[in-house]
Amino acid sequence: MVQLTLPRGSQVKKGKRWPAKTNGKKPARTKDFRIYRYDPDSGENPRLDVYTVDLDSCGPMVLDALFKIKNEIDSTLAFRRSCREGVCGSCAMNIGGSNTLACTKAISDISGSVYIYPLPHMPVMKDLIPDLTDFYAQYASIQPYLQTKSPQPVTEWRQSEGDRSKLDGLYECILCACCSTSCPSYWWNPERFLGPAALLQAHRWISDSRDEAKGERLDHLEDPFRLYRCHTIMNCTNVCPKGLNPSKAIAEIKQIMVKRAL
Ligand code: SF4
Ligand code: SF4
Ligand code: FES
Repeated sequence: MVQLTLPRGSQVKKGKRWPAKTNGKKPARTKDFRIYRYDPDSGENPRLDVYTVDLDSCGPMVLDALFKIKNEIDSTLAFRRSCREGVCGSCAMNIGGSNTLACTKAISDISGSVYIYPLPHMPVMKDLIPDLTDFYAQYASIQPYLQTKSPQPVTEWRQSEGDRSKLDGLYECILCACCSTSCPSYWWNPERFLGPAALLQAHRWISDSRDEAKGERLDHLEDPFRLYRCHTIMNCTNVCPKGLNPSKAIAEIKQIMVKRAL
């Protein structure tokens, strides 16, 4: 039988159990949050701590529960967040087995314990904080800004309503990384496949009527890995918390590639 050795630190151990803070009263409604804890400086394996939260004194979203745990039960818990309303993308994590935003995920949507892990297949810096350095480098590689060769207009560079509408479904991306970190092709080739988030953004600039670097942008993507590692598995589209469709954007880039080759 083949014996596999798991990488160091990959086994998640049983952690501590933390009771609810209740001011002496027995809470009427509680829920357990089972949260991934990891401190690379400790030299110990990750563990799953269980926090019991009094729902009657907690806001409705998973991020509210994380704040309550950090403020009242265990101040060492580390996670990212900023806007608290689904526009910054900072609080992306794996909740109940699916990548999503903690600030827009309702606790009431999850039956039983709430399992929370960092975004999958990324190096973990601490607890629920993944290292997104490579993800941002991939975003930078698609040159996410307008590139023009014509003389600049004196006032705004106007678009027709039709041209502007071509950016709908693309510009709304908040770069939360939920899609890329749910993509099996990205898991297996994270250094070479750009992943759905960067490719959706690439499509946003290719589609911009004012941009004059379309040919160079397509040349950059014409590569067996950067673009063509997408196998239309659709995980990306299923998890996007903004309701975007990276899979469709990638398919449209492939169509543009075919048309320009004719
Ligand atoms: S496409 Fe959706 S899931 Fe992917 S980074 Fe943008 S907002 Fe997040
Ligand atoms: S459709 Fe493409 S980018 Fe999206 S999850 Fe599947 S392989 Fe990944
Ligand atoms: S805190 Fe900004 S998207 Fe959740």
